[in-house]
Amino acid sequence: MKVLVVGSGGREHAIVTKVAESKKVSKIFCAPGNAGIAELAQCVDIAATDIDGLVKFAKAEAIDLTIIGMDDPLVMGVVDAFEAENLRVFGPRKNAAMIEGSKAFSKDLMKKYNIPTAAYETFTTPEDALAYLETAKMPIVLKADGLALGKGVLICNTLEEAKEGVKTLMLDKQFGTAGDTIVVEEFMTGREVSVLCYCDGTHIVPMTSAQDHKRAKDGDQGLNTGGMGTFSPSPFYTKEVHDFCVANIYQKTMDAMKAEGRPFVGILFCGLMLTPDGVKVLEYNARFGDPEAQVVLPRMKNDIIEVMEACIDGTLDKIDLQFEDNAAVCVVLASDGYPEKYEKGFEIKGLDTFKGKDGYYVFHAGTKLSDGKVVTNGGRVLGVTAKGEDLVKARANAYAATEWIQFENKYKRNDIGKAIDEQ
Ligand code: AMP
Ligand code: GLY
Repeated sequence: MKVLVVGSGGREHAIVTKVAESKKVSKIFCAPGNAGIAELAQCVDIAATDIDGLVKFAKAEAIDLTIIGMDDPLVMGVVDAFEAENLRVFGPRKNAAMIEGSKAFSKDLMKKYNIPTAAYETFTTPEDALAYLETAKMPIVLKADGLALGKGVLICNTLEEAKEGVKTLMLDKQFGTAGDTIVVEEFMTGREVSVLCYCDGTHIVPMTSAQDHKRAKDGDQGLNTGGMGTFSPSPFYTKEVHDFCVANIYQKTMDAMKAEGRPFVGILFCGLMLTPDGVKVLEYNARFGDPEAQVVLPRMKNDIIEVMEACIDGTLDKIDLQFEDNAAVCVVLASDGYPEKYEKGFEIKGLDTFKGKDGYYVFHAGTKLSDGKVVTNGGRVLGVTAKGEDLVKARANAYAATEWIQFENKYKRNDIGKAIDEQ
């Protein structure tokens, strides 16, 4: 089979790595890819959001399966465009990707179908939002309705901050039209867990759990980022929590989407919060998490192509999804200064140390080839993942492996997965 993967981050490198393990696959392309992906796939210079370009390429190369890694093309309707040309593609259609593309839609869905989530109100004018905030309990959470690179969520401790937040989202339009509508949500506390699920429109099969560390600095300080590291499984996602989610969240979401005429095929990412009042859904995404994919996929035993084809064919109930009985930790190596200002273009040394080392991975995110050398090309540069028989060992292995890599302004958090030591 010829497979095309769409995207260019650590998540897509993790997907391509898994696809390369499949016995069914003879050739992999990635659009646009990065320097690490280029070792496993032929990278083609088509942007992930260039839907016409992607369709044309898939037809010309007779691609057997296209896997969409990123959210933007999904929300734009890339799957519909592929299907219209009878091309096989893995991911939700536009009307189902809306579960990530519109927070107001996903909140209304959860309310209608009684799926546990924080209380909320939706506003389309700043005046109404401000009037509501005058009487609301603080802290409170403001969310831009549309896609905002994971940055459209503002946690406001005071009324003044909340008013400022309405200005940022709805008047200054910091996230463009994503802030035309906002969701104002009750503030919740608790541990966060990400559970990524394979879906075929009818059946839903959750993968092993993971936890992301979103803040830039140790101790969950600093700005929100795309994710500074992950570990899997989460020791806080107990059997009791899992059973609750199976009974109250996963299948209910699938059934709700089907009932709305929006059957969901692809990866449903359930962002959960374990609050003192029970498990609640923080958000849904319509694709693998990044860096969650970098700890979940290396632990998956199945052939990823078989699982994805079962999703497309509606036969996911025939798949026995299995994960290794171990753990994995991913530490992101970033450019110092991320997510604000940082320099790039520095040579990365030590990548070869990972070659041939079982259970160790270096996933590229912001890298590129320049004069035959791999150089830094973004805020999040690499995801260093290691497995271990338990989380403490996986963490020690991952941090040891971060020392194999050198570049000038290398920055990392030192406490990824640290809470696990406190168990
Ligand atoms: P989201 O994009 O909706 O997952 O929000 C990004 C991050 O903001 C989450 O991972 C949480 O850490 C935080 N967050 C979102 N909603 C809430 C909430 N209702 N209460 C507390 N924290 C939240
Ligand atoms: N790591 C969070 C996300 O991919 O949205």
